[in-house]
Parts: sequence; structure tokens; C-alpha cells
Amino acid sequence: MNRRALLTSLAVAPLIAGCRRSAVASTPRGGLPPLRTITPGAFGTCVQVANLTDPAWLDLARTHVSQLTPEWEMKMEYILADGLDRLRLDRTDRIARFAADNGMALHGHTLIWYSQGQEAFAGLDNAAFDRAFDGYIATVAGHYRGKVQSWDVVNEPILDDGSGLRDCHWSRRYGQDGYIRRAFDEARIADPEAVLFLNEYNLEGVPAKGAQFLRLVERLLKAGCPLQGLGTQSHLWIDIPDGQIAAFMHELAQFGLPIHVSELDVSLRTDSALDLRGQQYRLSLQTARVTELAEVYMRLPAAQRFAFTTWGLRDTDSWYRRDDKDDGKDRPLPFDAAGQPNPMARALATAFQT
Ligand code: XIL
Repeated sequence: MNRRALLTSLAVAPLIAGCRRSAVASTPRGGLPPLRTITPGAFGTCVQVANLTDPAWLDLARTHVSQLTPEWEMKMEYILADGLDRLRLDRTDRIARFAADNGMALHGHTLIWYSQGQEAFAGLDNAAFDRAFDGYIATVAGHYRGKVQSWDVVNEPILDDGSGLRDCHWSRRYGQDGYIRRAFDEARIADPEAVLFLNEYNLEGVPAKGAQFLRLVERLLKAGCPLQGLGTQSHLWIDIPDGQIAAFMHELAQFGLPIHVSELDVSLRTDSALDLRGQQYRLSLQTARVTELAEVYMRLPAAQRFAFTTWGLRDTDSWYRRDDKDDGKDRPLPFDAAGQPNPMARALATAFQT
């Protein structure tokens, strides 16, 4: 069965409100309309508890954001820090309460990730491993049932070069497709209403990785996996060739599933220490990448425009500004340190209003 034929056989799960845009006419701030009012689906950002006591962040988020993704406190690294017997849900409870109090959807991130959980699951025999795997998903997804509208059930299953799927502690127990299918099955049991996503990065910039992802999606759907949404993280870089982003998104759309641009940022940094291009030129390339992505998102059928999430609001909120390569000048996000629109925000607003 080819991909198009697959479309007709898929019952796409009922979507969360097709469009969370406010019907209220909005007064442009700084010449920029609130992004949550013009973004089809939802406009999202990542969040951590520390943001919830930052008045400037709160003001920006309440103006522009209609969906939140916990940046790290809903991952095993935090939840399992005290072991499998003492799940820590305090911080994600605070985030969930903030989202509900502020009329924002909550996108759960992430239940099963190759890069976390090794320590907590180490040394378990097969029966205990199975109980812990299924129990973790049942407990976390069950706890947030009705509070989390969608989940990244599995994050980043593909090898960086696209040559295959990662081997990890999960695949060593259940097989590479097997752990993914088990995770989705358990998440479906734990929360019958949430929209269940598979999430991955560099799909636009590394065609081999994008192709491997599409093949995985096809296999999962043919196998009856309750996969209902596709997340492309879109941690883009400024030198992705013109047209490559749109070409991948077109392929991704063929499954007819909701698409989440789930973690957009575009660092101005490149790997070359000899790259002497100035910031304004790099910003023009960033604008071209963001425009291409947003325009192809706008061409999706409404039912497939799930949400458009940036991985932070202000440049200083970016994980890029926290790594040791940071030169303090990167501008990967829609707003500057003072909360004023960057070229990225204006490019998004232009594309979403076209
Ligand atoms: C990153 C966060 O931004 C960091 O704060 C954390 O230390 C590590 O994880 N892809 C993902 C995200 O799916 O969860 C990652 O977020 C960025 C890459």
C-alpha cells in the first residue's frame, strides 16, 4: 500500500480544537499581532518552571502563546531523578496548572526518549523492566489525562545520519520498532483522548534522516500503531538549501496526520570558524528558512496544522545561549532579550497572515 493509499485508510484522531486562535481582534504590539491569534492550530513555546516567576516572560507568553511544551521537567531526567518508586511530578503539575489557568494547551514532552532513563532502568530483569516501562507511561500519561492534550510519546528514534534507527536501552529490550509501538500502545491505554505524536529533529536539513523517518511512520501506521501526529522539531540552520524544508514538509503531509512544528529555532552560528558573514546577512538567511517553513505550514490542510512551536520566546531563553559555544550574540528565537520582535517574529507574522 503506498503512502497516498494509506491516507484513505487512516482515521485521523479528532483534533484538539482545530484552531485555538482567539476570535478577539487584537491590537498589534510593537507592530506585531499576538502570534496566538494568527497562527493556525496553536502558537507554542517551551517552558520551564523558572519562567513562571519571570514577569517579562509571563507578559510575552500571555500575549503570544496558546500552547506550552515543558522544556525538560516532564522528561525522565527530572521525573525519575529519585528513582522509579518516587516519580517527581511537582514541576509539571505547576506547569499544567499555569497552562489551564491561562487558557493554554499543554503538549507533553516526552514519555520515551533514547537519551534518558538508562540509570533508573539499569539492572532490571525483563519482567521488572516491562512493569517499569508500562508503569511509567501509565502513571505519567494517566496523571496528566485531561490536562495534556497531546504527547510526544517517543522522541528522536532515528540515527543522525539517517542510516537507521537508534539502538538504546529501550530497543535492546523490545526491538527498534517494538519499543516505539509498545510506548504508543501504553500511552493510548493511559489517555484515550490525547493526540499521540512521534517527534524528531533534522528531518528537513538531513534528507536521509527525513526519508528514514517517513519509512518508520509508514511501518508504524501499517502495523496499526496508534500514531496520530508527526512532530518535526525544526532546529533549523541558516544554510539549509532553498526548497529543502518545503520538500520534506510536503512528504510529511502525505500521511494526512496533524503536523507539529515542535521546536523551531534557527541559530545564526555555523560550524565554520572561518565564516565571516555578518549578523544581518545571517538574519536574512534565517528569515528565508523560517519563511519557507511557515509558508509550507500554511499550505497544509487545516486539519494538519496542529501547532507551530518555537523552542523558547526570547533569544536569552534559548538552549543555544546556555551552551559553551555561546558567544552572547546568537538570535535563534522570535524575540530579543527585551521581548521585542526579532526578524523571526516578523517573518512568522507575515507568513501566517498571507
Ligand atoms: C533540550 C532542552 O532545551 C535543554 O534545556 C535540556 O537540557 C536538554 O534538552 N530535542 C528535544 C528537546 O526534543 O527535548 C531538547 O531540549 C532539544 C532537542
